[in-house]
Amino acid sequence: MDSRGLIPRSDGRFYLTRATDCVGRRSPDEPFRLRNGEPRTWHTWRMPNPFFEGRAAGKYFVGRGTETTQLSSRIAELLQDAPNHVQVAGMFGTGKTSLLHKAIGMAEEHKIYAARIEVPEMAEGAALAQAQHILRTLLSKMEDDGVGREQGFRFDLLHDWEKGNSGSFEMCKATALSGDDLARDLRRIAHTLEEFGYHGLLCLLDEAQYLQGPTLRAIKSALFETNSILMVIALRVLTDVPSVDVVAEDMLTLLDDSINRLFSTRIGLGPFEHGDGERCIQRRLADDTDGISFESEVVSDIVHITRGIPHHVIGLAHLVYDLAAVTPDRTASQDHLLSAVKSRFRLEWKSVSGLLDSASPDERDALAALAEHPQVADTADLVALSTHSLTDREIESQAVLWSDYFDRLQEIYPEWCRVSPDGVALDDPVVAYILRQRLRFEDAS
Ligand SMILES: Nc1ncnc2c1ncn2[C@@H]1O[C@H](COP(=O)(O)OP(=O)(O)OP(=O)(O)O)[C@@H](O)[C@H]1O
Ligand SMILES: [Mg+2]
Repeated sequence: MDSRGLIPRSDGRFYLTRATDCVGRRSPDEPFRLRNGEPRTWHTWRMPNPFFEGRAAGKYFVGRGTETTQLSSRIAELLQDAPNHVQVAGMFGTGKTSLLHKAIGMAEEHKIYAARIEVPEMAEGAALAQAQHILRTLLSKMEDDGVGREQGFRFDLLHDWEKGNSGSFEMCKATALSGDDLARDLRRIAHTLEEFGYHGLLCLLDEAQYLQGPTLRAIKSALFETNSILMVIALRVLTDVPSVDVVAEDMLTLLDDSINRLFSTRIGLGPFEHGDGERCIQRRLADDTDGISFESEVVSDIVHITRGIPHHVIGLAHLVYDLAAVTPDRTASQDHLLSAVKSRFRLEWKSVSGLLDSASPDERDALAALAEHPQVADTADLVALSTHSLTDREIESQAVLWSDYFDRLQEIYPEWCRVSPDGVALDDPVVAYILRQRLRFEDAS
């Protein structure tokens, strides 16, 4: 064994006896090869994690029943009627890209050609380049997907585009952005697709918040010219999307009214319903060949702590899975969840720890009560719930002290402590969870 803990084997591989990852877990026992003369870290050869499969849900897609029904109706209508274009809006990580991928599958069933194109973020004034990029990307996807290949043709629209000024694409040689040019080129693409047996084009513009005003207006006038293209734009919005009406309002700030009317089907994506969040985790675990399982309460708590926001559900479950994968019984427990929360929500952990360290015993009681009853609660009720054998009078005077404390908390932590005439609420399930765990741990020690 050398100083790094490596034991050479006769087949050129090594055992590594001292490898631990960043949280101190030992490496598994399989032999391995060196990379550039160095042992690979545990992370690079651990088991595949079912919560790491790229950015879109793909085969693990769950829920979103209403949204997929809306989309599938719009897609089916494309074959019969004038298209009814779609806006999808949601905050970071709520599943917009996953929904677009789902739409590709739906289009295939109707023999409609579908392409998801990411709108590039470009400097102000680069609308022409942005529109050119969208068309060019569409053409290369068509080529990659082998459009025409089945019929023995060679798809040559991309080749034509690449010819630049000598080609027949208007958008390629344009020096200014025009809806007419875009319409002509899109019609040509749609026509080619028809020739190859497709019943239309589903164009899915992801990251559409980057669309510049002129690009959007050119798209609008092009869309008025053709009935064989259905356009879906997916926008990342900054505020939560509790209802479709709010999406509409949010969109109005981004899209002018006529464009808003053109994209008249509006789909708002918020967090998962609790059951769908749990299914999102269970579907991936069901596919796991390493036999890792999660205690059911852990699954439920992950969804609760992350408020069911898909990106966070997956991120937290990923960490929990890794921790469970190196234990003998390969089952994720509350201890694993706690470690995962500690690592994923470091800032919150630090801030809650600081808060508890500086709190008096009475303030700790107030925090404990709030963490156990985080929904809006009358302060006197909180006192009554958490302390026994107090007279009404004592409860009242204690409530005055706690109310003062909650007012101060709201000033320091407005992002999670909300005081209103109805009482006090702890608005962040991560903070509530950390508070409960820290207090429980301290009580036990
Ligand atoms: N319906 C779903 N079923 C299962 N998993 C999902 C679903 N929606 C999203 N996810 C998962 O949640 C994570 C975020 O999803 P996705 O990338 O689609 O969100 P997004 O809204 O496009 O994010 P961004 O704002 O970063 O573009 C991914 O890991 C994805 O697999
Ligand atoms: Mg996305």
